[in-house]
Amino acid sequence: MSDVQKEMKKFVGRHAEKQWDWNAFSRTDGYAELRRAQMRYVGAGGSPKVDDPDTIKPEHFTLSFLELPQGNYGAMHTHADCEETFHGIQGYTSVGWAFDDEAVVAKVGPKDLLWQPIGRPHAYKNVMSEPVMLSIMVGSGKPLPPVIHTHPDSSPYAATFGATPDKVIEFSSRSEDPRIKEYAKHLVRYSQQKIHAHSAGFGYMKYVGGDGAAVPAVHYREDLIHLPAGKGVKTYEREVEDVYLVFEGLLTVGWEEDGKVVEQQIGPRDIIFNPPGRKHYFRNDGLDTTQFMMVTGTRTPETVKFQAA
Ligand SMILES: [Fe+2]
Repeated sequence: MSDVQKEMKKFVGRHAEKQWDWNAFSRTDGYAELRRAQMRYVGAGGSPKVDDPDTIKPEHFTLSFLELPQGNYGAMHTHADCEETFHGIQGYTSVGWAFDDEAVVAKVGPKDLLWQPIGRPHAYKNVMSEPVMLSIMVGSGKPLPPVIHTHPDSSPYAATFGATPDKVIEFSSRSEDPRIKEYAKHLVRYSQQKIHAHSAGFGYMKYVGGDGAAVPAVHYREDLIHLPAGKGVKTYEREVEDVYLVFEGLLTVGWEEDGKVVEQQIGPRDIIFNPPGRKHYFRNDGLDTTQFMMVTGTRTPETVKFQAA
């Protein structure tokens, strides 16, 4: 195996080969309802497990998965230094935002995205009849620990998003409530997005950052790429990292060095981290359209001119 092949394998995170860590989060001991698991792909995210050798070293953001058993929750908290994105992977996760003593709660479903601004109090809960799964990103390689506001050791309403049950407001896209409208500006519903056609032969939805994106970027941009069977792009490089997080289908990724290429094929719930300066490309060798999130470690609008391979 060449050095580049070995190097590339270290930057691939395969869901089937990674482990759930049920002891990742602080202040959960003795609270069965807070039990939840983290799977770290890039950095440690909101957990203190910063020296896990099985994760990729972060640059501008971390990326992990969260599994939340039925009935369990993460208490209302804020991140003082970075924005946080939730991507729906499996099931529908209820996420509450605090507005004074009230909470607005929406469900984040498959391929939906909820973007929490810096300092925005939020909590999540599984009210469904099966486990739910999110992919979570925060906009810092080394985020500060979250500040927990309504832990069950001190709040009787920790399980209801920090609000008394009569002050929990369900999200509705038809509502004129200013708090729900504020929430809605940060909730990207997959079913409501327009697909833009790229001249390189793929489609894309503008989730975070760039002209006309659903929400503005702070530390990273996100586009959901729809790559038809047989399509791909020529080699490109960036000054920052980009990560491909696959939602559907198969994705072949190539790295080029000294005119030679090595490739890895990844699938649903897998990622690849393409480091800054690495020449790389993507292609779909499958028979179905591949959908993957392209996350780029900058707020600057796209500068790469993708060309069809
Ligand atoms: Fe958070």
